Amino acid sequence: MKEIGVGVIGMGWMGEVHSSAYINYKLKFANKNISPKLIICSEILKERAKTAKDKFGFEEYTTSWQAVVDHPKVEVVDITTPNALHLEIIKYCIQKGKHINCEKPIGAFPKETLEAYELTKNYSKQTCVGFNYRWAPLVQYTKKLIDEGKIGKIYSYRGRFFSCYAADERSCYSWRFEKENGLGAITDIMTHAIDMALYLVGDIKSVNGTLKTFISQRPVAKGGASHYAKADKNAVLKEVTNDDYVAARISFQNGCEGFIDASRIFFGPTSEHSFEIYGSKGSIKWNFEEMNTLHLFLREEDESAMGYRKIYSSPIHPYHHYFNPSNGSSIGYDELKVIEIANFLEKIHNPNFANFANFEAAAKVAKVINAIIASSESKKEEKV
Ligand SMILES: NC(=O)c1ccc[n+]([C@@H]2O[C@H](COP(=O)([O-])OP(=O)(O)OC[C@H]3O[C@@H](n4cnc5c(N)ncnc54)[C@H](O)[C@@H]3O)[C@@H](O)[C@H]2O)c1
Repeated sequence: MKEIGVGVIGMGWMGEVHSSAYINYKLKFANKNISPKLIICSEILKERAKTAKDKFGFEEYTTSWQAVVDHPKVEVVDITTPNALHLEIIKYCIQKGKHINCEKPIGAFPKETLEAYELTKNYSKQTCVGFNYRWAPLVQYTKKLIDEGKIGKIYSYRGRFFSCYAADERSCYSWRFEKENGLGAITDIMTHAIDMALYLVGDIKSVNGTLKTFISQRPVAKGGASHYAKADKNAVLKEVTNDDYVAARISFQNGCEGFIDASRIFFGPTSEHSFEIYGSKGSIKWNFEEMNTLHLFLREEDESAMGYRKIYSSPIHPYHHYFNPSNGSSIGYDELKVIEIANFLEKIHNPNFANFANFEAAAKVAKVINAIIASSESKKEEKV
């Protein structure tokens, strides 16, 4: 059993999810040959750093992210800070020769994502990006159906990520609404929708896109509150300087036509990261809000029996069996992070391992984002 030291930087939502994923990996993927050990966590809010140390059992905590990268026992650095810090930390990790697991989108802007990829494409250590939705067992099953030709030629793809996290105008201002810290819905959640399209259907040739800000001001919260917190009526308002909504008509290299959009401000959908795939032999629909259910239509000889069938995530589907042995017993968001970390550690252990999302996957998404922004400005179709 090879032990590998892990340091986590930024102990907000994702820092906590990543830390517990390493712990759960040891429990759920116990048959693997690699054992992550939580060494040190860092957080600018000292109290949050100390709480995280105690909660997850890190050996140490610090307020300095450099101390995590410098730590001699840390081989893997997990970057779960706001986007604007990603690239600086990545550069320091490269200097110190660490494996890097960075949350999406990797950097505040697509050019930073592309720079991170350029810097690491010939790097001797592994990289990983947080495109966790790929790892849902029924998404993996969808990929298998497509690759085996069960859906036939894919004619059309619809993808979306409608999150409600900023639907309420009282949702607090955070780094997410500030263009100095990065773009809005396009890098925050459209990244996931683009990655899903690329992963399932293939490369995108051209796009016709648009970006919009609908809620122009938000209340400022007291220190450390996230965008999930609601401010009271007397809070001071601050200008929102990046996009709430993004949409793009997309043409894939393989001839498939599609449409993807993402919003952080719609009421109704809560975390509707979904896709619809229409092919010559069948169709598939999936929605993260009902992550453990897939709707599959397969063209049959007997037309009277044709229709969508409902499939529940079960141990027969990829990865599900690591979590429970029971047909239809659901798994959740946090388990997707455990699978992501399992694949990352597998890649570190075995460089030939292929089912994996690294900085190259993030760079592909960044190129599509750049083309959507260019198209939104030129009001024309743009090549990726
Ligand atoms: N893959 C996904 O599903 C998913 C979901 C949410 C967020 N994310 C990504 O994860 C990252 C973090 O998002 P979050 O929702 O956890 O944000 P968050 O605001 O909850 O957490 C970020 C944490 O980083 C800390 N921080 C800020 N500057 C720091 C510094 N210099 N050193 C150490 N810590 C510092 C903040 O105090 C905060 O606790 C972002 O890149 C975001 O895009 C990914």
